[in-house]
Amino acid sequence: MSEVKEDKVFPFIEGENVSLCPVNMDHIHLYTKWMNDPQLRKYARYNMPQTIEEVKKLFEPKEEPVKNEIFFEIWHKKDEKPIGFVGLIRIQWLTRNAHIFYLIEPNYWGQNNGTEAGKLVLEYSFKELNLHKITARMFSPNKASLRVAEKIGLTHEITLKQEVYIDGEHIDALEYSIFKEDWMKLQ
Ligand SMILES: CC(C)(COP(=O)(O)OP(=O)(O)OC[C@H]1O[C@@H](n2cnc3c(N)ncnc32)[C@H](O)[C@@H]1OP(=O)(O)O)[C@@H](O)C(=O)NCCC(=O)NCCS
Repeated sequence: MSEVKEDKVFPFIEGENVSLCPVNMDHIHLYTKWMNDPQLRKYARYNMPQTIEEVKKLFEPKEEPVKNEIFFEIWHKKDEKPIGFVGLIRIQWLTRNAHIFYLIEPNYWGQNNGTEAGKLVLEYSFKELNLHKITARMFSPNKASLRVAEKIGLTHEITLKQEVYIDGEHIDALEYSIFKEDWMKLQ
């Protein structure tokens, strides 16, 4: 695992227990570890082994005229280390919609870190980026992820029957979403 150099940590959004920082290429070994971890990759659908080179490409800034994804490293403030990532993908700037995703290292599960990071991304999405709707697509057995979606205010919108194949069976995908106006009412 790469050593964490704190002088290269640049909090972009400050939360109570976690900060959201730009992706740090010095931590690419850690990201690669997470993306190959059986517990983490199961519902995140990383079905193929990921090399450091492949993960690097995923996180490197793309040469697109318009950015359609934003990744953050989740920095644990007390322990002073990265514990996961969170962000927006498939950003559509005309309709102002995007998908949220989150991943937390197993040692830090169940401590509200996913929820806090998700809340910070929603606030950023609606109050800084002026997005209109945020969607999360999750798989029915992924109870922790469904719970995080509920805790940050998303509600179930559609079910895609037998959408993915996990652990030898086809399972449903659930799409949860929240509109900016509904998020504002919750604040
Ligand atoms: C989903 C994930 C980010 C949650 O992170 P986290 O930091 O543990 O989340 P939180 O602690 O904020 O909240 C987890 C909630 O799920 C609940 N939970 C966890 N496992 C559960 C289960 N098997 N059944 C029901 N609830 C469960 C927890 O009790 C908690 O709810 P509570 O606060 O009401 O008690 C983390 O599990 C993860 O990284 N999973 C692998 C990657 C992944 O699946 N990402 C989502 C892809 S869409």
